[in-house]
Amino acid sequence: MREVKTGEFEGGCAFVEGEFVPLSEAKISLFDWGFTRSDVTYDVASTWQGAFFRLGDHIDRFYASMEKMHLAIPYSRGELRDILHACVRAGGLQDAYVAMVCTRGVPPRGARDPRLAQNRFYAYALPYVWIASREKQLAGLDLHISDRQRIPAASVDPTVKNYHWMDMVQSMFDAYDRGRDTSCVVDGAGNITEGPGFNVFMAKDGVVHTADQGVLEGISRRTAMELCARLGIPLKAGPVPAALLRSADEVFLTSTGGGILPIAKLDGVYLPQFPGPITTRLYDAYWAIHDEAAYRDPVKY
Ligand SMILES: Cc1ncc(COP(=O)(O)O)c(C=O)c1O
Repeated sequence: MREVKTGEFEGGCAFVEGEFVPLSEAKISLFDWGFTRSDVTYDVASTWQGAFFRLGDHIDRFYASMEKMHLAIPYSRGELRDILHACVRAGGLQDAYVAMVCTRGVPPRGARDPRLAQNRFYAYALPYVWIASREKQLAGLDLHISDRQRIPAASVDPTVKNYHWMDMVQSMFDAYDRGRDTSCVVDGAGNITEGPGFNVFMAKDGVVHTADQGVLEGISRRTAMELCARLGIPLKAGPVPAALLRSADEVFLTSTGGGILPIAKLDGVYLPQFPGPITTRLYDAYWAIHDEAAYRDPVKY
């Protein structure tokens, strides 16, 4: 693999079929089952102020997802790390959104057997992406609680980071139709699962709640849970019925795309506290631990 120079593809760099290319040249085949069947898994890490945050955890989750999907890439964890670092370095990025993607690939023409396809690996780094901008967060995000159901976990394992988003994208349109900012979807029993790109947390009477089933085990979710333990904030991971969420004192989302994101309103109704004291403590702690050596993997520009 060739060495890329710092800023060689200023603004963003991709790794496609073994080559580093500018984002404008990052393309996949029309016949890749990743495109035609959503037969793909991926992960998204981030860099903040020139260092990856919890990169090892993202890489572990990516390999676990691939294993569950009978997918494989020809790179070791160390080689994958080097590719991701190179994408950020070549993009000349300090704060970056860094994706790694493994698709089924293209089976021989006419073949229906996924085992015949050679899996493909793609990666890219682009400027950091926020689920909601800081301005929007300050103005007060309004979350729509959709009655659309997330694809059942028995059909698509939600702990495998996947592109099965039709439920969530439709719920986003429902949210926009109602003048809301974003949405979350429920499971068959009416418990809150997750939303497009985030896990959902709430606090009530000093206790933090988040779903323990039917969700992606977000790395930011894990960070929020670990920070609760560190800060002595009681946490309950278990079913969160929509009615419980509606009775929350505080609500926040967690995502690599923005960390801890405070919610101001549920379906147009202001929550009692925004941004609430627990959300604020976790928000501050979330950004503070980005400076801790254990979580940082600095990019060598
Ligand atoms: C469906 C879904 N849930 C949760 C998350 C949050 O995961 P993480 O904190 O690892 O970014 C994501 C991230 O994209 C997601 O797509």
